[in-house]
Amino acid sequence: MFLAALVPAMLLAGGALGVGPKQLGADPVRTLLHSCGLTALNLLLITLAVTPLRQLTGWNNVQRLRRMLGLFAFFYALLHFTVYAWLDQGLDVKAIGADILKRPYITIGMLALLMLIPLAVTSTNGWMRRLRKRWQRLHYLIYPIAILGVWHFWWQVKKDIREPLLYVVMLGVLLGYRLLRAPLRRLLTSRCGSATVRERT
Ligand code: HEM
Repeated sequence: MFLAALVPAMLLAGGALGVGPKQLGADPVRTLLHSCGLTALNLLLITLAVTPLRQLTGWNNVQRLRRMLGLFAFFYALLHFTVYAWLDQGLDVKAIGADILKRPYITIGMLALLMLIPLAVTSTNGWMRRLRKRWQRLHYLIYPIAILGVWHFWWQVKKDIREPLLYVVMLGVLLGYRLLRAPLRRLLTSRCGSATVRERT
């Protein structure tokens, strides 16, 4: 999983050096922004898919991958921001600040990145032990972060909304599953319970 998550970065590095299958094309900065942003978003959604996958399949070991996937999502989001700040804005702090304030989709992206920082910092076992219940509460931030990430993507697409729409649907399924799981289980157990009582009588 570690090597698989590194593949997009390696392909981009190869493209920048002119080796390997990935070409950065006529606008390499756009290509880098696009690939890192999309990889960050994909990894955020894959991280959110881990718990439903474990609960629905009973494949408990998959949970061990969640931390690494989340950290890679942060890595690609940071790379995405670095490309933006360095290659797109020439590290002009004033211009970056003005852009963040002026363009709402950049404001939202920045917010998502800032919210990812405490999650990445506290992802270790030591922080988990130290924060106990507060750790779980802090890591619920992953939900607004994913919403902001998809929103950021949605907002900057001008015409063809099919791709961001797909992300809205995927996020909707992942969040909807969490919202509906407990009431559905209650409903099913109460139905099964009353069916068992009817069978017995
Ligand atoms: C969790 C954080 C973030 C995620 C998941 C994310 C994700 C994305 C995605 C999926 C795209 C669309 C790629 C495409 O199809 O071209 C994108 C584009 C972009 N993002 Fe982000 N982003 C994040 C944070 C940021 C931050 C912090 C900035 C800058 C401060 C930023 C600036 C941009 C820019 C400039 C584009 C390109 C828009 C264009 O092509 O005109 N993003 N991002």
